[in-house]
Amino acid sequence: MGNSSIYVGIDIGTTSIKVIIAEYLKDQINIIGYGNTRSAGLNRGVIVDIDQVVKAIKEAVKQAEEKANIQISEVSVGVPANMLQIERCKGMIAIGNEDGNSKEISDIDVRRVTEAALVQNLPPERDVIDIVPDEFIVDGFDGIQDPRGMVGVRLEMQGVMYTGPKTILHNTRKCIERAGLKVRDMIVAPLALSQVALTDGEKDFGAILIDLGGGQTTAAVVHDHQLKYTYVDQEGGDYVTRDISIVLNTSIENAEILKRNYGYADETLASNEDTFPVTVVGQQEPEMITEEYLAQIIEARLQQIFGKLKADLDRINALQLPGGIVLTGGLAALPGVKELAQKIFGVNVKVFIPQEMNLRIPSFAQVIGIVEYVTQENEIDQIVRRTLDGQEFISKPKVNQLDEDEQQDIKPDFEPVADEYDTPKDKKKDDKPKGMDRFKAIFDKFFD
Ligand SMILES: Nc1ncnc2c1ncn2[C@@H]1O[C@H](COP(=O)(O)OP(=O)(O)OP(=O)(O)O)[C@@H](O)[C@H]1O
Ligand SMILES: [Mg+2]
Repeated sequence: MGNSSIYVGIDIGTTSIKVIIAEYLKDQINIIGYGNTRSAGLNRGVIVDIDQVVKAIKEAVKQAEEKANIQISEVSVGVPANMLQIERCKGMIAIGNEDGNSKEISDIDVRRVTEAALVQNLPPERDVIDIVPDEFIVDGFDGIQDPRGMVGVRLEMQGVMYTGPKTILHNTRKCIERAGLKVRDMIVAPLALSQVALTDGEKDFGAILIDLGGGQTTAAVVHDHQLKYTYVDQEGGDYVTRDISIVLNTSIENAEILKRNYGYADETLASNEDTFPVTVVGQQEPEMITEEYLAQIIEARLQQIFGKLKADLDRINALQLPGGIVLTGGLAALPGVKELAQKIFGVNVKVFIPQEMNLRIPSFAQVIGIVEYVTQENEIDQIVRRTLDGQEFISKPKVNQLDEDEQQDIKPDFEPVADEYDTPKDKKKDDKPKGMDRFKAIFDKFFD
Protein backbone atom coordinates (compact mmCIF):
# COMPACT_ATOMS: atom_id res chain seq x y z
CA MET A 1 0.00 0.00 0.00
CA GLY A 2 1.28 3.46 -0.83
CA ASN A 3 0.56 4.86 2.59
CA SER A 4 1.27 8.46 1.74
CA SER A 5 -2.31 9.07 0.61
CA ILE A 6 -4.08 6.96 3.21
CA TYR A 7 -4.93 8.22 6.67
CA VAL A 8 -6.29 6.01 9.39
CA GLY A 9 -7.75 7.28 12.63
CA ILE A 10 -8.47 5.12 15.62
CA ASP A 11 -10.42 6.03 18.75
CA ILE A 12 -9.96 3.52 21.55
CA GLY A 13 -13.12 4.23 23.55
CA THR A 14 -14.45 2.54 26.67
CA THR A 15 -17.63 1.45 24.91
CA SER A 16 -16.43 0.96 21.36
CA ILE A 17 -13.39 1.17 19.12
CA LYS A 18 -13.87 3.29 16.04
CA VAL A 19 -11.64 3.21 12.98
CA ILE A 20 -11.82 5.45 9.94
CA ILE A 21 -9.81 4.91 6.75
CA ALA A 22 -9.56 8.02 4.61
CA GLU A 23 -7.96 8.37 1.22
CA TYR A 24 -6.42 11.47 -0.27
CA LEU A 25 -7.56 11.74 -3.86
CA LYS A 26 -7.86 14.68 -6.24
CA ASP A 27 -7.29 17.25 -3.50
CA GLN A 28 -9.90 15.68 -1.28
CA ILE A 29 -10.05 13.33 1.63
CA ASN A 30 -12.68 10.64 1.27
CA ILE A 31 -13.69 8.20 3.95
CA ILE A 32 -13.38 4.82 2.28
CA GLY A 33 -13.91 2.53 5.23
CA TYR A 34 -14.86 2.47 8.86
CA GLY A 35 -15.02 -0.02 11.69
CA ASN A 36 -16.89 0.09 14.96
CA THR A 37 -16.65 -2.76 17.41
CA ARG A 38 -17.56 -3.25 21.03
CA SER A 39 -14.64 -2.44 23.28
CA ALA A 40 -13.09 -4.58 25.97
CA GLY A 41 -10.20 -4.04 28.35
CA LEU A 42 -10.85 -0.38 29.17
CA ASN A 43 -12.11 1.16 32.35
CA ARG A 44 -13.25 4.79 32.42
CA GLY A 45 -11.36 5.68 29.29
CA VAL A 46 -8.12 4.02 30.33
CA ILE A 47 -6.62 0.76 29.04
CA VAL A 48 -6.53 -1.87 31.78
CA ASP A 49 -6.15 -5.08 29.77
CA ILE A 50 -3.86 -4.91 26.74
CA ASP A 51 -4.79 -8.32 25.31
CA GLN A 52 -8.49 -7.54 25.23
CA VAL A 53 -7.96 -4.11 23.71
CA VAL A 54 -5.67 -5.58 21.03
CA LYS A 55 -8.37 -8.07 20.09
CA ALA A 56 -11.00 -5.36 19.80
CA ILE A 57 -8.66 -3.12 17.78
CA LYS A 58 -7.90 -5.95 15.35
CA GLU A 59 -11.59 -6.54 14.83
CA ALA A 60 -12.39 -2.86 14.22
CA VAL A 61 -9.44 -2.51 11.84
CA LYS A 62 -10.48 -5.65 9.97
CA GLN A 63 -13.99 -4.25 9.52
CA ALA A 64 -12.62 -1.00 8.16
CA GLU A 65 -10.11 -2.76 5.91
CA GLU A 66 -12.81 -4.96 4.42
CA LYS A 67 -14.99 -1.95 3.68
CA ALA A 68 -12.10 -0.01 2.17
CA ASN A 69 -10.69 -3.09 0.48
CA ILE A 70 -7.14 -2.22 1.47
CA GLN A 71 -4.72 -3.26 4.15
CA ILE A 72 -3.53 -0.57 6.49
CA SER A 73 -0.18 -0.40 8.23
CA GLU A 74 -0.12 2.78 10.30
CA VAL A 75 -2.65 4.73 12.31
CA SER A 76 -3.14 8.03 14.10
CA VAL A 77 -4.55 7.42 17.54
CA GLY A 78 -6.24 9.62 20.12
CA VAL A 79 -4.87 9.90 23.64
CA PRO A 80 -7.56 10.51 26.28
CA ALA A 81 -7.37 13.66 28.38
CA ASN A 82 -6.94 11.79 31.66
CA MET A 83 -4.31 13.60 33.72
CA LEU A 84 -3.40 15.71 30.73
CA GLN A 85 -1.21 18.71 31.49
CA ILE A 86 -1.00 21.76 29.29
CA GLU A 87 2.03 24.02 29.63
CA ARG A 88 3.76 26.76 27.72
CA CYS A 89 7.11 25.79 26.27
CA LYS A 90 9.85 27.60 24.43
CA GLY A 91 13.12 26.81 22.76
CA MET A 92 15.93 28.90 21.38
CA ILE A 93 18.87 28.02 19.11
CA ALA A 94 21.63 29.79 17.24
CA ILE A 95 21.38 29.33 13.50
CA GLY A 96 24.22 31.49 12.26
CA ASN A 97 27.36 30.05 10.72
CA GLU A 98 30.39 29.62 12.91
CA ASP A 99 31.64 33.03 11.89
CA GLY A 100 28.41 34.54 13.25
CA ASN A 101 26.86 35.29 9.85
CA SER A 102 23.16 34.66 9.41
CA LYS A 103 21.94 31.63 7.50
CA GLU A 104 18.66 30.46 5.92
CA ILE A 105 16.44 28.57 8.34
CA SER A 106 15.66 25.01 7.28
CA ASP A 107 13.59 22.00 8.43
CA ILE A 108 16.56 20.91 10.50
CA ASP A 109 16.56 24.19 12.44
CA VAL A 110 12.85 23.74 13.20
CA ARG A 111 13.67 20.28 14.51
CA ARG A 112 16.51 21.64 16.61
CA VAL A 113 14.45 24.43 18.13
CA THR A 114 11.76 21.85 18.97
CA GLU A 115 14.37 19.70 20.65
CA ALA A 116 15.47 22.74 22.62
CA ALA A 117 11.86 23.32 23.73
CA LEU A 118 11.67 19.69 24.84
CA VAL A 119 14.52 20.13 27.28
CA GLN A 120 12.28 20.75 30.26
CA ASN A 121 12.24 18.91 33.50
CA LEU A 122 9.41 16.45 33.20
CA PRO A 123 8.54 14.22 36.14
CA PRO A 124 9.62 10.63 35.40
CA GLU A 125 6.04 9.41 35.10
CA ARG A 126 5.10 11.86 32.32
CA ASP A 127 5.84 12.09 28.61
CA VAL A 128 5.26 14.73 25.95
CA ILE A 129 2.29 13.86 23.73
CA ASP A 130 2.39 16.87 21.47
CA ILE A 131 3.82 20.35 20.98
CA VAL A 132 1.76 22.85 19.05
CA PRO A 133 3.88 25.82 18.01
CA ASP A 134 2.34 29.21 18.55
CA GLU A 135 4.92 31.36 16.85
CA PHE A 136 8.53 31.48 15.82
CA ILE A 137 10.77 34.42 16.54
CA VAL A 138 13.69 35.18 14.22
CA ASP A 139 16.25 37.62 15.62
CA GLY A 140 13.54 39.19 17.77
CA PHE A 141 10.89 39.45 15.04
CA ASP A 142 7.89 37.60 16.40
CA GLY A 143 4.57 36.29 15.08
CA ILE A 144 6.18 34.09 12.42
CA GLN A 145 4.25 30.93 11.55
CA ASP A 146 6.83 29.34 9.25
CA PRO A 147 10.41 30.56 9.60
CA ARG A 148 11.86 28.31 6.89
CA GLY A 149 13.60 30.21 4.15
CA MET A 150 14.11 33.24 6.40
CA VAL A 151 17.54 34.45 7.37
CA GLY A 152 18.69 34.99 10.93
CA VAL A 153 21.18 34.10 13.63
CA ARG A 154 18.73 33.24 16.41
CA LEU A 155 15.56 31.14 16.18
CA GLU A 156 13.04 30.87 18.98
CA MET A 157 9.86 28.84 19.18
CA GLN A 158 7.00 29.39 21.57
CA GLY A 159 4.21 26.91 21.84
CA VAL A 160 2.01 24.73 23.95
CA MET A 161 3.20 21.39 25.25
CA TYR A 162 0.81 18.60 26.16
CA THR A 163 2.05 15.93 28.51
CA GLY A 164 0.35 12.80 29.77
CA PRO A 165 1.04 9.85 32.04
CA LYS A 166 3.66 7.51 30.59
CA THR A 167 1.50 4.48 31.27
CA ILE A 168 -1.40 5.80 29.14
CA LEU A 169 0.94 6.62 26.27
CA HIS A 170 2.82 3.37 26.57
CA ASN A 171 -0.32 1.23 26.75
CA THR A 172 -1.93 3.00 23.81
CA ARG A 173 1.17 2.53 21.67
CA LYS A 174 1.59 -1.05 22.83
CA CYS A 175 -1.98 -1.97 21.90
CA ILE A 176 -1.63 -0.50 18.41
CA GLU A 177 1.71 -2.24 17.87
CA ARG A 178 0.48 -5.55 19.22
CA ALA A 179 -2.41 -5.27 16.78
CA GLY A 180 0.25 -5.32 14.04
CA LEU A 181 0.15 -1.60 13.24
CA LYS A 182 2.54 1.32 13.46
CA VAL A 183 1.64 4.48 15.36
CA ARG A 184 1.87 7.40 12.96
CA ASP A 185 0.71 10.07 15.40
CA MET A 186 -0.58 10.31 18.91
CA ILE A 187 -3.05 13.15 19.18
CA VAL A 188 -4.50 14.70 22.32
CA ALA A 189 -8.12 13.57 21.91
CA PRO A 190 -9.91 16.88 22.72
CA LEU A 191 -7.55 18.74 20.36
CA ALA A 192 -8.64 16.45 17.54
CA LEU A 193 -12.28 16.66 18.57
CA SER A 194 -12.25 20.44 18.58
CA GLN A 195 -10.97 20.32 15.01
CA VAL A 196 -14.34 19.08 13.80
CA ALA A 197 -16.80 19.99 16.52
CA LEU A 198 -16.01 23.69 16.94
CA THR A 199 -16.24 26.45 14.37
CA ASP A 200 -13.36 28.83 13.77
CA GLY A 201 -15.23 31.52 15.70
CA GLU A 202 -15.80 29.24 18.67
CA LYS A 203 -12.16 28.23 18.75
CA ASP A 204 -11.15 31.87 18.59
CA PHE A 205 -13.55 33.49 21.11
CA GLY A 206 -13.75 30.46 23.33
CA ALA A 207 -16.10 27.54 23.85
CA ILE A 208 -16.44 24.43 25.96
CA LEU A 209 -16.52 21.09 24.21
CA ILE A 210 -18.02 18.22 26.18
CA ASP A 211 -17.46 14.64 25.05
CA LEU A 212 -20.17 12.44 26.54
CA GLY A 213 -18.47 9.07 26.22
CA GLY A 214 -19.43 5.70 27.61
CA GLY A 215 -16.84 5.46 30.38
CA GLN A 216 -16.13 9.11 31.04
CA THR A 217 -17.12 12.66 30.29
CA THR A 218 -14.48 15.10 29.15
CA ALA A 219 -14.83 18.87 29.12
CA ALA A 220 -12.31 20.79 27.04
CA VAL A 221 -11.95 24.56 27.00
CA VAL A 222 -10.71 26.05 23.75
CA HIS A 223 -9.85 29.72 23.46
CA ASP A 224 -7.60 31.71 21.11
CA HIS A 225 -7.44 28.56 18.94
CA GLN A 226 -5.75 26.68 21.74
CA LEU A 227 -6.82 23.88 24.00
CA LYS A 228 -6.47 25.59 27.36
CA TYR A 229 -7.93 23.24 29.87
CA THR A 230 -9.50 19.81 30.27
CA TYR A 231 -11.55 18.20 32.99
CA VAL A 232 -12.43 14.52 33.08
CA ASP A 233 -15.34 13.17 35.09
CA GLN A 234 -15.05 9.42 35.25
CA GLU A 235 -18.70 8.72 34.69
CA GLY A 236 -20.36 8.35 31.32
CA GLY A 237 -23.17 6.79 29.33
CA ASP A 238 -22.41 3.30 30.57
CA TYR A 239 -23.20 4.51 34.09
CA VAL A 240 -26.60 5.65 32.85
CA THR A 241 -27.15 2.17 31.44
CA ARG A 242 -26.09 0.59 34.72
CA ASP A 243 -28.45 2.84 36.68
CA ILE A 244 -31.35 1.83 34.43
CA SER A 245 -30.43 -1.83 34.88
CA ILE A 246 -30.33 -1.54 38.67
CA VAL A 247 -33.44 0.59 39.16
CA LEU A 248 -35.61 -1.37 36.72
CA ASN A 249 -34.11 -4.70 37.71
CA THR A 250 -33.32 -5.65 34.13
CA SER A 251 -30.18 -6.84 32.34
CA ILE A 252 -27.50 -4.41 31.15
CA GLU A 253 -28.31 -5.38 27.55
CA ASN A 254 -32.00 -4.54 28.04
CA ALA A 255 -31.13 -1.33 29.83
CA GLU A 256 -28.95 -0.24 26.90
CA ILE A 257 -31.77 -0.92 24.45
CA LEU A 258 -34.30 0.97 26.62
CA LYS A 259 -31.95 3.93 26.90
CA ARG A 260 -31.52 4.14 23.15
CA ASN A 261 -35.14 3.43 22.21
CA TYR A 262 -37.11 5.31 24.86
CA GLY A 263 -34.59 7.43 26.73
CA TYR A 264 -34.76 11.17 27.32
CA ALA A 265 -32.13 13.14 29.16
CA ASP A 266 -34.65 15.71 30.35
CA GLU A 267 -37.65 14.33 32.19
CA THR A 268 -39.86 17.30 31.29
CA LEU A 269 -39.69 16.21 27.64
CA ALA A 270 -40.76 12.62 28.34
CA SER A 271 -44.39 11.49 28.37
CA ASN A 272 -45.99 10.31 31.62
CA GLU A 273 -48.54 8.34 29.59
CA ASP A 274 -46.46 6.51 26.97
CA THR A 275 -45.27 3.23 28.38
CA PHE A 276 -43.04 0.38 27.22
CA PRO A 277 -42.52 -3.18 28.46
CA VAL A 278 -39.46 -4.06 30.54
CA THR A 279 -38.27 -7.62 31.09
CA VAL A 280 -37.67 -7.80 34.83
CA VAL A 281 -35.30 -10.35 36.33
CA GLY A 282 -37.22 -13.11 38.14
CA GLN A 283 -40.59 -12.05 36.74
CA GLN A 284 -42.58 -13.89 34.10
CA GLU A 285 -44.53 -10.90 32.81
CA PRO A 286 -42.85 -7.73 31.63
CA GLU A 287 -43.52 -4.58 33.63
CA MET A 288 -44.87 -1.46 31.96
CA ILE A 289 -42.76 1.62 32.60
CA THR A 290 -43.47 5.21 31.59
CA GLU A 291 -41.00 7.18 29.51
CA GLU A 292 -41.03 9.76 32.27
CA TYR A 293 -39.80 7.26 34.86
CA LEU A 294 -36.97 6.15 32.56
CA ALA A 295 -36.09 9.79 31.93
CA GLN A 296 -35.92 10.42 35.70
CA ILE A 297 -33.31 7.68 36.05
CA ILE A 298 -31.27 9.03 33.14
CA GLU A 299 -31.55 12.63 34.23
CA ALA A 300 -30.41 11.86 37.78
CA ARG A 301 -27.04 10.58 36.55
CA LEU A 302 -26.64 13.33 33.98
CA GLN A 303 -27.42 15.96 36.60
CA GLN A 304 -24.61 14.55 38.70
CA ILE A 305 -22.16 14.56 35.78
CA PHE A 306 -23.13 18.03 34.57
CA GLY A 307 -23.13 19.32 38.15
CA LYS A 308 -19.50 18.27 38.65
CA LEU A 309 -18.49 19.75 35.31
CA LYS A 310 -20.27 23.00 36.11
CA ALA A 311 -18.53 23.38 39.46
CA ASP A 312 -15.16 22.92 37.80
CA LEU A 313 -15.88 25.12 34.79
CA ASP A 314 -17.28 27.86 37.04
CA ARG A 315 -14.07 27.80 39.02
CA ILE A 316 -12.16 28.98 35.94
CA ASN A 317 -14.95 31.24 34.59
CA ALA A 318 -15.14 29.13 31.44
CA LEU A 319 -18.92 29.39 31.32
CA GLN A 320 -18.56 33.04 30.46
CA LEU A 321 -16.95 32.20 27.15
CA PRO A 322 -19.19 33.34 24.28
CA GLY A 323 -19.16 30.04 22.42
CA GLY A 324 -21.11 28.32 25.20
CA ILE A 325 -21.12 24.54 25.17
CA VAL A 326 -20.91 22.04 22.34
CA LEU A 327 -21.90 18.48 23.26
CA THR A 328 -20.76 15.42 21.38
CA GLY A 329 -19.80 11.79 22.05
CA GLY A 330 -22.18 8.83 22.02
CA LEU A 331 -24.52 9.99 24.76
CA ALA A 332 -25.11 13.29 22.98
CA ALA A 333 -27.50 11.30 20.76
CA LEU A 334 -29.92 11.13 23.67
CA PRO A 335 -32.94 13.39 23.06
CA GLY A 336 -33.19 16.18 25.61
CA VAL A 337 -29.49 16.29 26.43
CA LYS A 338 -29.16 19.76 24.96
CA GLU A 339 -32.16 21.06 26.94
CA LEU A 340 -30.90 19.54 30.20
CA ALA A 341 -27.40 20.94 29.69
CA GLN A 342 -28.85 24.36 28.91
CA LYS A 343 -30.78 24.34 32.20
CA ILE A 344 -27.84 23.19 34.30
CA PHE A 345 -25.06 25.25 32.76
CA GLY A 346 -27.22 28.28 31.96
CA VAL A 347 -25.44 28.94 28.65
CA ASN A 348 -26.10 28.24 24.98
CA VAL A 349 -25.71 24.56 24.18
CA LYS A 350 -25.65 22.73 20.89
CA VAL A 351 -25.00 19.17 19.85
CA PHE A 352 -22.38 18.30 17.29
CA ILE A 353 -22.98 15.43 14.93
CA PRO A 354 -20.50 14.83 12.11
CA GLN A 355 -23.06 15.35 9.34
CA GLU A 356 -20.84 15.85 6.36
CA MET A 357 -19.45 12.39 6.63
CA ASN A 358 -22.72 10.50 6.40
CA LEU A 359 -21.71 9.04 9.73
CA ARG A 360 -24.38 10.89 11.59
CA ILE A 361 -23.75 9.69 15.10
CA PRO A 362 -21.91 11.75 17.67
CA SER A 363 -19.80 8.82 18.88
CA PHE A 364 -17.91 9.06 15.57
CA ALA A 365 -16.96 12.69 16.11
CA GLN A 366 -13.72 11.78 17.91
CA VAL A 367 -12.27 9.46 15.28
CA ILE A 368 -13.26 11.77 12.45
CA GLY A 369 -11.56 14.56 14.36
CA ILE A 370 -8.36 12.53 14.51
CA VAL A 371 -8.28 12.04 10.74
CA GLU A 372 -9.14 15.68 10.07
CA TYR A 373 -6.53 16.83 12.55
CA VAL A 374 -3.70 14.95 10.86
CA THR A 375 -4.77 15.84 7.33
CA GLN A 376 -5.07 19.52 8.14
CA GLU A 377 -1.77 19.90 9.91
CA ASN A 378 0.66 22.19 8.18
CA GLU A 379 4.25 21.19 7.49
CA ILE A 380 5.59 22.98 10.54
CA ASP A 381 3.21 21.12 12.85
CA GLN A 382 4.36 17.89 11.25
CA ILE A 383 8.05 18.62 11.61
CA VAL A 384 7.49 19.44 15.27
CA ARG A 385 5.42 16.31 15.94
CA ARG A 386 7.89 14.07 14.07
CA THR A 387 10.67 15.48 16.22
CA LEU A 388 8.87 14.20 19.32
CA ASP A 389 9.13 10.58 18.26
CA GLY A 390 12.36 10.89 16.38
CA GLN A 391 10.69 10.42 12.99
CA GLU A 392 11.64 12.18 9.80
CA PHE A 393 9.19 14.64 8.34
CA ILE A 394 7.43 13.24 5.27
CA SER A 395 5.50 15.74 3.19
CA LYS A 396 1.81 15.09 2.72
CA PRO A 397 -1.29 16.72 1.19
CA LYS A 398 -3.02 19.74 2.66
CA VAL A 399 -6.52 20.72 3.82
CA ASN A 400 -9.27 18.58 2.46
CA GLN A 401 -13.01 18.36 2.44
CA LEU A 402 -14.85 15.10 2.32
CA ASP A 403 -16.60 14.16 -0.85
CA GLU A 404 -20.13 13.18 0.11
CA ASP A 405 -20.91 11.49 -3.18
CA GLU A 406 -18.24 8.94 -2.60
CA GLN A 407 -19.52 8.08 0.84
CA GLN A 408 -23.09 7.17 0.13
CA ASP A 409 -22.45 3.53 0.93
CA ILE A 410 -21.05 4.23 4.39
CA LYS A 411 -23.61 3.59 7.07
CA PRO A 412 -23.01 3.40 10.79
CA ASP A 413 -23.77 0.30 12.79
CA PHE A 414 -26.06 2.28 15.04
CA GLU A 415 -29.23 4.02 14.03
CA PRO A 416 -28.34 7.44 12.68
CA VAL A 417 -29.70 10.19 14.88
CA ALA A 418 -32.20 12.79 13.73
CA ASP A 419 -31.05 15.67 11.63
CA GLU A 420 -32.48 18.37 13.79
CA TYR A 421 -29.37 19.40 15.65
CA ASP A 422 -27.54 22.62 15.02
CA THR A 423 -24.09 21.99 13.75
CA PRO A 424 -21.20 24.38 14.12
CA LYS A 425 -20.94 24.40 10.33
CA ASP A 426 -24.23 26.35 10.27
CA LYS A 427 -22.62 29.20 12.11
CA LYS A 428 -21.17 32.14 10.33
CA LYS A 429 -17.44 32.12 10.68
CA ASP A 430 -16.86 35.75 11.50
CA ASP A 431 -19.84 36.59 13.64
CA LYS A 432 -17.63 37.96 16.38
CA PRO A 433 -19.72 39.25 19.27
CA LYS A 434 -18.89 42.62 20.72
CA GLY A 435 -17.13 43.25 24.02
CA MET A 436 -14.95 40.19 23.67
CA ASP A 437 -11.90 41.63 25.28
CA ARG A 438 -12.98 40.78 28.79
CA PHE A 439 -12.84 37.11 27.88
CA LYS A 440 -9.38 37.32 26.50
CA ALA A 441 -7.87 37.45 29.97
CA ILE A 442 -9.81 34.56 31.42
CA PHE A 443 -7.38 31.81 30.61
CA ASP A 444 -4.16 33.68 30.77
CA LYS A 445 -3.62 32.53 34.31
CA PHE A 446 -3.24 28.94 33.15
CA PHE A 447 -0.06 29.84 31.43
CA ASP A 448 1.34 32.08 34.12
N1 LIG B 1 -28.56 6.64 20.23
C1 LIG B 1 -28.08 6.64 21.47
N2 LIG B 1 -28.87 7.02 22.49
C2 LIG B 1 -28.39 7.05 23.75
N3 LIG B 1 -27.14 6.72 24.09
C3 LIG B 1 -26.32 6.34 23.12
C4 LIG B 1 -26.72 6.28 21.76
N4 LIG B 1 -25.67 5.88 21.02
C5 LIG B 1 -24.65 5.67 21.89
N5 LIG B 1 -25.02 5.95 23.14
C6 LIG B 1 -24.23 5.84 24.36
O1 LIG B 1 -23.00 6.51 24.18
C7 LIG B 1 -22.00 5.86 24.94
C8 LIG B 1 -20.81 5.57 24.06
O2 LIG B 1 -20.32 6.78 23.54
P1 LIG B 1 -18.89 6.84 22.84
O3 LIG B 1 -18.86 5.86 21.72
O4 LIG B 1 -18.64 8.25 22.54
O5 LIG B 1 -17.98 6.33 24.03
P2 LIG B 1 -16.49 5.78 23.99
O6 LIG B 1 -15.68 6.67 23.15
O7 LIG B 1 -16.48 4.34 23.62
O8 LIG B 1 -16.10 5.88 25.52
P3 LIG B 1 -15.13 6.91 26.29
O9 LIG B 1 -14.95 8.11 25.43
O10 LIG B 1 -15.83 7.21 27.56
O11 LIG B 1 -13.87 6.14 26.51
C9 LIG B 1 -22.61 4.58 25.49
O12 LIG B 1 -22.91 4.75 26.85
C10 LIG B 1 -23.85 4.41 24.65
O13 LIG B 1 -24.87 3.78 25.37
MG1 LIG C 1 -14.73 8.51 23.51
